[in-house]
Amino acid sequence: MIIRAETPADPAAIGAVLVEAFGGEQEAALVEDLRQDGALTVSLVAEIEGRIVGHVALSALKSPLCALALAPLAVSTTRQRQGIGSALIRSAIDGAGGLGATLVFILGDPNYYRRFGFTIETAAPFPSPYAGPHFMALKLTANDVAPEPVI
Ligand SMILES: CC(C)(COP(=O)(O)OP(=O)(O)OC[C@H]1O[C@@H](n2cnc3c(N)ncnc32)[C@H](O)[C@@H]1OP(=O)(O)O)[C@@H](O)C(=O)NCCC(=O)NCCS
Repeated sequence: MIIRAETPADPAAIGAVLVEAFGGEQEAALVEDLRQDGALTVSLVAEIEGRIVGHVALSALKSPLCALALAPLAVSTTRQRQGIGSALIRSAIDGAGGLGATLVFILGDPNYYRRFGFTIETAAPFPSPYAGPHFMALKLTANDVAPEPVI
């Protein structure tokens, strides 16, 4: 398996993985909207033998902070539980760090995302419409970060 940035040839295959993994069109449409808006800050695919089997996106949140949202994450149903989702998340975190992001936020199941260092406690100080039991963050800087809103 390789993980690489999306290329102009990939959107259809990425959309197919998203529809399959989520069982609907909503997330594929979200990614396409972000792409069209130039807001897909990071878009990574997992590829096995030339076929795209997973995808993760990072987009900028509206905030004075350099904060990114990790979403959506999807792995083809036939390839789940093989570590592909984990590899995509770790690569996305590396990518966010490389871009100088101070925080990566995520809305998801804490049972899954805490293993990558995301915590509800890290996200809690930042006012956000996404605040709640699934709102988590990972801080990428050792410095203190002012609790500015993230939208
Ligand atoms: C979530 C998803 C990306 C995980 O991908 P994956 O390649 O199967 O993940 P990995 O193989 O790296 O990790 C599998 C582990 O995650 C756990 N896991 C997967 N989805 C989970 C969830 N929603 N909640 C809690 N744990 C979950 C599995 O139980 C497994 O745990 P184990 O290693 O202790 O057995 C994949 O299941 C998927 O595409 N799901 C549908 C779309 C979705 O819900 N995306 C996330 C929200 S944006």
